[in-house]
Amino acid sequence: MIDNNNVILDVRAISRHFGALKAVDRVSFQVRKGEIIGLIGPNGAGKTTITNLVTGDLKKNAGEVHYKGTDVSSMQPFQIARIGLTRTYQIVKPLQGMTVEENVLVGSLYGRGNRINDLSNARKTVHDVMELVGLYKKKDFMVSDVTLPDLKRMEFARVLAMDPEVVFLDEVMAGLNPSEVEESMELVKKVREDRQLTIVYIEHIMKAVMGISDRIIVLHHGKKICEGSPQEVRDNPAVIEAYLGKKYAKEVMKANE
Ligand SMILES: Nc1ncnc2c1ncn2[C@@H]1O[C@H](COP(=O)(O)OP(=O)(O)OP(=O)(O)O)[C@@H](O)[C@H]1O
Ligand SMILES: [Mg+2]
Repeated sequence: MIDNNNVILDVRAISRHFGALKAVDRVSFQVRKGEIIGLIGPNGAGKTTITNLVTGDLKKNAGEVHYKGTDVSSMQPFQIARIGLTRTYQIVKPLQGMTVEENVLVGSLYGRGNRINDLSNARKTVHDVMELVGLYKKKDFMVSDVTLPDLKRMEFARVLAMDPEVVFLDEVMAGLNPSEVEESMELVKKVREDRQLTIVYIEHIMKAVMGISDRIIVLHHGKKICEGSPQEVRDNPAVIEAYLGKKYAKEVMKANE
């Protein structure tokens, strides 16, 4: 359920450049509790960099991030994660030399609630989230022995085991086949409902983004170029141009007239 009166995440004019490249250029947006926000844009638009800036993985050049009323701009990623704002990694980050279950356990031990001294409850959480994402049967596999889609599921399970309130999911569906994409969409919707989670959902599979987002934010060359309902975004000329280039965008717009 979306709580329209509760802005849980308030991103204020954040910027990050790499040399002359403005990877993220004064981007602002707000997320309400319980929303699924789609964050889209062509390759290199700045989606992962925004995630890194919000979760403290990367330093901002300017701007602020407020989470549940607290300015988290200068906090460390582990501190931000412990108060419930966290993310998955587009390039999966398994802890090598460990099993799938142990990787997820790390999330449970060091996430919100910091269960490091509460192993039995941490294990119970791990069991539940691994069932939820369909990974339980592979719990004893070493991470080096599972496929990329399973590592993506593991990333998702690990972040859920942290008991977050806001999660940035950075391309958790990459590499999945069409029926797995459908399953994954249902799963994202289910965890939003069951856990009252707020999700910022980064994905190139348009069907998935359009199907599950309440609102969509579109980035292009580090700037926010559009924000609105899936319908509004789909019909926006600037968005069509960003994806297709000027020439083809004109043809599409003409055809739609
Ligand atoms: N550490 C870095 N050093 C230099 N340039 C970087 C660094 N990280 C990102 N960039 C550049 O910043 C821009 C934004 O990258 P980012 O990874 O945020 O894009 P993205 O929208 O996530 O793209 P994709 O859809 O391919 O994942 C790109 O031009 C990228 O090459
Ligand atoms: Mg990315």
